[in-house]
Amino acid sequence: MQPLRVGLIGLGTVGTGVSRILLDHADRVTRRAGRPIELTRVAVRSLDKPREIDLPASILTDDAAAVARDPDVDVVVELIGGLSPARELVLDALAAGKDVVTANKALLCEHGLELFRQAREFGRCIAFEAAVAGGVPIIEVLGQSLAANQVHTIEAILNGTSNFILTEMFTNDAAYDDVVRKAQELGYAEADPSMDVKGTDAAQKLGLLTLLAFGTQVGPEKFPVQGIDTIELADLKYADELGYAVKLLATVKLVDGKLEMHTQPTLIRHDRPLAQVDGPNNMVALTGDAVGTTWLSGYGAGQMPTASSVAANLIDVAIGRAQLTFPHLDLWIEHKALPIQPAE
Ligand code: HSE
Repeated sequence: MQPLRVGLIGLGTVGTGVSRILLDHADRVTRRAGRPIELTRVAVRSLDKPREIDLPASILTDDAAAVARDPDVDVVVELIGGLSPARELVLDALAAGKDVVTANKALLCEHGLELFRQAREFGRCIAFEAAVAGGVPIIEVLGQSLAANQVHTIEAILNGTSNFILTEMFTNDAAYDDVVRKAQELGYAEADPSMDVKGTDAAQKLGLLTLLAFGTQVGPEKFPVQGIDTIELADLKYADELGYAVKLLATVKLVDGKLEMHTQPTLIRHDRPLAQVDGPNNMVALTGDAVGTTWLSGYGAGQMPTASSVAANLIDVAIGRAQLTFPHLDLWIEHKALPIQPAE
């Protein structure tokens, strides 16, 4: 059995989780994938930094570009986040004939069309289940199970850190700064937690869902984005007395052929499913013309839930089904693009 040889770029929280799954559960992964999935090369920022996981020194390097082009690698897993050098690494990997698995919402939200085109040109695929809602399988559902629908509305809690902070403040009367620190320690927050609390991370994920559901590439600068950084405990208590929870809600709606989008703290009535999402959980409520409204929920941040989605994509690549979630994605996107309603 020919193994699938993995080049992992980035051994942070999620990269460590993915390595754990591949090493600690190699038998299970091999059975599910039909062949072994091997960590062949791992690019780290510094070879001297202490690591949470013990990996053979022979597979470690600090040269990410070399991993993206390594002839002994079949699939590159990009887990460094951000736009550059992630974009260049993904383009290089595709050009070198490798499939790519990534959790990088910022990259796909901003450069998705270019990257999906490059993947098509080189006959490769990009799998990105971990890019939105951590362990919740929204990408596969959108691309496969709900593929027959015209989506009308997506209302979603997409930032686990913000939801965790709101929950902790309300439930434990915890101070904002303390909870932000705790979210970082627990591995929920981005390297720069202002991406979480100012709404950018949720808005990038909404942009990516909008690209997939409506064919429109749209970054957070094109629609109103507000985070939870100005919410106070008194706001949460007062909303509760009135029968509402406060959630950072990312919304896109198709109205008269245009897209209305925003990401902002929102009052949600207690009896709605979105109001009951606590801690680092996410929820996507998606309404399609045939299916009606369907809800998906689970851990949206954290090491192992996010690693679960990355590792599942590696199994998809090993089996040869990764390209089935959004086949012809770039062509479909160009065909479907819808305009955005300008912000008032
Ligand atoms: N910082 C992100 C969040 C991690 O809190 O949701 C998952 O993308």
